[in-house]
Amino acid sequence: MRIFLDTANIDHIRHAAKLGIISGVTTNPSLVAREESADFKAAILEICSIVGGPVSAEVLSLDAEAMIEEARQLSSWHENVVVKIPVSEAGLEAISVLSRENIKTNFTLCFSANQALLGALAGATYVSPFVGRLDDIGHQGMEVVKDAVEIFEYYDLPTQVIAASLRHPLHMVSAAKAGAHVATVPYNVLMQMIRHPLTDIGISRFAEDWRKVIEK
Ligand code: E4P
Repeated sequence: MRIFLDTANIDHIRHAAKLGIISGVTTNPSLVAREESADFKAAILEICSIVGGPVSAEVLSLDAEAMIEEARQLSSWHENVVVKIPVSEAGLEAISVLSRENIKTNFTLCFSANQALLGALAGATYVSPFVGRLDDIGHQGMEVVKDAVEIFEYYDLPTQVIAASLRHPLHMVSAAKAGAHVATVPYNVLMQMIRHPLTDIGISRFAEDWRKVIEK
């Protein structure tokens, strides 16, 4: 399972990239709005210069024609830009046109296996089931990831599943066990994955024991 960072924060992206563990980045309008830069294009280009993998940037248009135009614009910014298109009839129409133009897409705001299947049939490069938001309303969000992975494997569909809207480290383990091709993770969850109190205790105990040897 590859890991993408789910943020538009440049410092966080720089840090995670330095650790050598992320293969891409996903943004959305809310994540971009949280940052200081008002220049969307500049922000996406800066992210592309840090991470040598797919960088998702979302369209804001709601009708198919405008989505397609916006997607063409976004994808012309950099070869690694993947255009996020929300689930809707217009979104499916846009993806089917864009896939024929070899423009990479991420079918986003996906909350069911049926939506994921339709995205794959339209030619989406990725589909993103939003696990945490489903959990929030009392559903088993990871089931959508599992179902989509199983369906795509069964029918040999090339679309990749991005487990999205992940909220804690256990989501990452479940996504990996569900066979998600990618998990897109917030920076704080990525940091939590690295840490373990027993590791911290172990490191300080080793240092302490070794200091005793030196001080003998
Ligand atoms: C995915 O591409 C989205 O940006 C993201 O995972 C949404 O997460 P949220 O539900 O925490 O906003």
